[in-house]
Amino acid sequence: MPRIAYVNGRYVAHADAFVHIEDRGYQFADGVYEVCEVARGFIVDMPRHLGRLNRSLTELSIDWPVTRGVLPIIMREVVRRNHVTDGLVYLQVTRGVASRDFVFPAGTKPALVVTARKADPAAAEKKAESGIKVITVLENRWDRVDIKSVGLLPNVLAKQKAKEAGAQEAWFVDAEGIVKEGGSSNAWIITRDGVLVTRPAEHGILRGITRTTLFEVAAKLGLKIEERGFSVAEAKAAREVFISSATTIAMPIVAIDGAPVANGHPGSITLSLRHAFFDVAEKSPA
Ligand code: PDD
Repeated sequence: MPRIAYVNGRYVAHADAFVHIEDRGYQFADGVYEVCEVARGFIVDMPRHLGRLNRSLTELSIDWPVTRGVLPIIMREVVRRNHVTDGLVYLQVTRGVASRDFVFPAGTKPALVVTARKADPAAAEKKAESGIKVITVLENRWDRVDIKSVGLLPNVLAKQKAKEAGAQEAWFVDAEGIVKEGGSSNAWIITRDGVLVTRPAEHGILRGITRTTLFEVAAKLGLKIEERGFSVAEAKAAREVFISSATTIAMPIVAIDGAPVANGHPGSITLSLRHAFFDVAEKSPA
């Protein structure tokens, strides 16, 4: 079954899906993106993802490539044409194609690409049962990581470093030793008293959609959340540690920089958040 991508108004075979060599996303990383989970035939939290896309576009003064009403139709169509029941749908908007010049080009139409791909939910569940490892790296990204920009080179390098260290995620840590977030996820700890702690999203991290929905999941489970920074040392001594993102939901962390978290096994609170997630998340039929 050939994969299908949406590229600037057309549904094309994935193998024949191309953007122009002077697309500003390619030349300047002048673009933004979203990743939505597809689970059991539903697109998860799509309205929140579109809200964040709107914010990213507004911050960068990029126009919507299609109307806000049409984008969900395209996303659903890409999911449908690729027969994705579980997986993800990716969308990317760049400022468009123009002769290379740093300043915004006049009259350029933004470019839109939407792809979808399958994932194996059983494999993800297995991963959650054993947990994953993180390493820490010094924060070296720009100040506007609240914008979901395609400029992800520091994230690429950090996650590659994690892989080479036998870990699956890298946490960006500031000069004071306070954890910011992962290369592609938000960071959480659970204290000895069972309180969830995650950094405020006003500045210095991406406001994860999964993070926002997990606030509602926690409320449903009667769990308390403190929005504050935490250090690597506090995380190493925590009862549980986990990350959140559209592709991982709540994923237990069992080691930080090679040191086991608690008994080195996934924590029960993290797993209960993970398993209650879909009852709370908004589900749009794909
Ligand atoms: N990444 N922080 C960063 C830097 C991220 O790249 C992501 C998501 C998150 C979590 O956001 P959300 O819960 O909305 O997925 C936090 C996606 C999954 C990616 O780049 O593949």
